[in-house]
Amino acid sequence: MIKHDIIIVGSGLAGMQAALEVCKDFDTAIITKVYPSRSHSGAAQGGIAASLGNASEDSWEDHMYDTVKGSDFFSDQDAVEIMVKDAPGVIRKMEHFGCVFSRTEKGLIAQRWFGGHSKQRACYAADRTGHALLHVLHEQTFKHAKNIKIYSEWYLMSLIVKDGICRGMVVYNIQKGKLEVMQAKTIIFCTGGYGRAYKITSNAFASTGDGIVAAYHAGLPLQDMEFVQFHPTGLFAQGILISEAARGEGGHLVNGKGERFMEKYASAKMELAPRDIVSRSEQTEINEGRGIDGKDYLHIDLRHLGKEKIIERLPQVRQLGIDFLGLDLIDDPLPIQPTAHYSMGGIPTDSDGHVLSDEKGTKVTGLFAAGECSCVSVHGANRLGTNSLLEALVFGERAGKAALTFTQNAEFHDVNEQEESNKVKNKVEAILNSNGKESINDIRNELKENMTTNCGIYRSKDQLEICLKKLNDLKARFKKGKITDKGFVFNSELIEFIELGNMLEFSEIIARGALRREESRGAHARTDFQKRDDDKWLNHTLAFKKDGEIEFRFKPVVITKHQPEERKY
Ligand code: FUM
Repeated sequence: MIKHDIIIVGSGLAGMQAALEVCKDFDTAIITKVYPSRSHSGAAQGGIAASLGNASEDSWEDHMYDTVKGSDFFSDQDAVEIMVKDAPGVIRKMEHFGCVFSRTEKGLIAQRWFGGHSKQRACYAADRTGHALLHVLHEQTFKHAKNIKIYSEWYLMSLIVKDGICRGMVVYNIQKGKLEVMQAKTIIFCTGGYGRAYKITSNAFASTGDGIVAAYHAGLPLQDMEFVQFHPTGLFAQGILISEAARGEGGHLVNGKGERFMEKYASAKMELAPRDIVSRSEQTEINEGRGIDGKDYLHIDLRHLGKEKIIERLPQVRQLGIDFLGLDLIDDPLPIQPTAHYSMGGIPTDSDGHVLSDEKGTKVTGLFAAGECSCVSVHGANRLGTNSLLEALVFGERAGKAALTFTQNAEFHDVNEQEESNKVKNKVEAILNSNGKESINDIRNELKENMTTNCGIYRSKDQLEICLKKLNDLKARFKKGKITDKGFVFNSELIEFIELGNMLEFSEIIARGALRREESRGAHARTDFQKRDDDKWLNHTLAFKKDGEIEFRFKPVVITKHQPEERKY
């Protein structure tokens, strides 16, 4: 059995922030299914929010209000307040680590506009902000290499929680083809989101919700899974992110009639309304036949910004258009469509990253979570752009600090190595020895089509019932899934198989949660219940696995400073 005081699962911003907090005092390990610098945090482009006030006067109070309003008054305001107050400090910390933020003429960190923010508060490194942050944190882990052991290409198979105590995990060493049981006093989950269940997505191939499903299988609830964010500008047919910075810098969204259609939907903020509103507006334009040439895409037009500004501020976005569609946005508008981008739901935590096992706030001993896999909940029903890098850094650091304190008086808890390992081994052998004939690729493609068509930007009872029926069929076919690689060393087909099982599992939670929630709020838009209903639905959803079924419970949204009001932009 492998033992570390603290094991962090996931090597994105949240995971590495947490590791840096704990590594000086404790034997620390990070396990990651990829290599740290390939973590999905690196895909974030346009910026990270903080009320530095470098571009215009700003305050944490304004940042808080914008975040709460952006969330459709569904975020927990105590957590939001912590995040926005901590924001300037984490930016300075990253700056001191050497993050190459873009600069104003005076040499201050430059800040740009982003959707739903009332101030110019997105700090950025051109349009590679996540990449820049991920690399400085990765460098810092090298500095502490003696204290942080990184297990790259190790894949989480199960989480061991018994009697309310987290004890360890079973992990697949992909390179060696071996199952390992790992024991820790403290485990911190920073395993990312779950956008890969959708056909058009900006998410990395790795974003298959493994961490949240492991927690769910270990008896823990998942919170607010029905809220899935669609980013308004995915590169057409590819889903790859075309940063909101393109609109922050002044880009226009245009329909097939050549109109800046956001005028009809959010005349004050136009293209810089929050993402739920812009994505819905785009989908409406497409559904009503006003896509480009009547097709299912629109244009983002940046030509009026000029070559110099595009090359300085948006080099990656430009290159993506050239590489994937052969279009240079200096000369051409770029075809875009909404793309599944961010998971508001996840493993419930308090604002110090303690994982919570019920609606009363009972803490799981020795288990923490931060970043996109967690639901703290600062984003509520709709996240504002630039608040995810911030959330990952702030709550990764806070989870690390709380884990440090916890571990000082913690001990290793019993793990029955043989039993835990056998449970996973039996599952793996059943997959490898199966004579199933069903194509995993077909099931995955049909899952993505189903989630996009029936549980996407717009949902209705009829669609969600179709979605659930299809999920049921897919689950039955998955049991007869075919695997051709029967070996155990570097079996990527096996991993894809397990990832698909995870996606089928959490997709049902998304769809059932969406069916239950008979209102429209933030990213959850029901065509048959078009209004927000605070009397009935101003509460978080908790989904538990009970006897193979999903049991739903609820807990109230924390409201401190801002009472819910009508959301206008
Ligand atoms: O559009 C973007 O650059 C994405 C940023 C975010 O999701 O925060």
